[in-house]
Amino acid sequence: MAFFHNSVADEFESVNQLILNSLKSDVGLVENIGGYIVDSGGKRLRPVLVLLSALANGYNSGRDHIKIAAIIEFIHTATLLHDDVVDVSALRRGRETANEIWGNAPSVLVGDFLYSRAFQMLVEISDMSIMSVFADATNVISEGEVQQMANAGNPDLDESTYKKVIYRKTAKLFEAGMECGAILAGSNKQAMKDYGKHLGMAFQIADDVLDLQGDVSVIGKNIGDDLNEGKMTLPLIFAREHCNSEQRDIIRDAISNKSSENFDQILKIVSETGGVDYSLNRAREHSSHALKALQGLPEGQYKKVLTELATFAVSRDI
Ligand code: IPE
Ligand code: IPE
Ligand code: MG
Ligand code: MG
Repeated sequence: MAFFHNSVADEFESVNQLILNSLKSDVGLVENIGGYIVDSGGKRLRPVLVLLSALANGYNSGRDHIKIAAIIEFIHTATLLHDDVVDVSALRRGRETANEIWGNAPSVLVGDFLYSRAFQMLVEISDMSIMSVFADATNVISEGEVQQMANAGNPDLDESTYKKVIYRKTAKLFEAGMECGAILAGSNKQAMKDYGKHLGMAFQIADDVLDLQGDVSVIGKNIGDDLNEGKMTLPLIFAREHCNSEQRDIIRDAISNKSSENFDQILKIVSETGGVDYSLNRAREHSSHALKALQGLPEGQYKKVLTELATFAVSRDI
């Protein structure tokens, strides 16, 4: 367990139970693949955000926070199943990806199962405002993934488009989780949304740095996947604008050809031109915005963890 699970340990245990109980299906392959990816763990950060947002704002009138926490993890897991197909990724959560073991078609279909199970569970809650948050979030996430795909292999991608993509594909779900916690509690909605959005932005920028210099055995994913997919991430965008023309050609060729063949050289260029520092500084800015959004929140253990998470989002190695 990471530090952010501790203050919500009991609720977190209930969420994990609900996740397992909600995976049931009469179709064996659905349970096999769903069980495989769920069982491999992951940080379960988004469910914890839902719990923290609800509890920090004083929610104490039921168990809907547990349900929403399970729902958000299902939606997240569905996006991962799809994302690994699109990104042709072979390692996730320290194990071979589902697409690597079962192939693309089963991964996509089981991703659909998880998405639709999440919506069945939302119907059980039957709160139109929460339903609407998740309908919008899932829609925006798919737009982000499509927008990213449309830009794959484009070495000219600029920082402003990059930011739009990562807001859509990642930060939106963080925002949605925090918003739902606040909706349940009946207070602080805008501030919690702002926190989630900025935390998610910081988290994805850090992820893009980890794709270049993370420790595979710790992050449980292969590095260099972004180059292989022709993804122009922030460290590369900055390096492209601050290196010499020879180095620029190396970066441009890697993105255009969707190849990590020159990975070591590119990592060196990115570090030397300050691309990693620049990206982490941008992530830290988002982290400060996230902290600012917590100002009106009642003091206590939940706020403390949300505060610590702002640092974790940037400095994490997992
Ligand atoms: C991975 O998210 C996808 C991104 C948005 C970078 P996590 O890093 O939260 O993945 P798990 O759930 O812990 O495996
Ligand atoms: C995560 O982006 C986006 C979604 C899961 C929607 P990445 O492609 O960077 O995530 P990882 O690195 O595969 O986890
Ligand atoms: Mg990916
Ligand atoms: Mg990544």
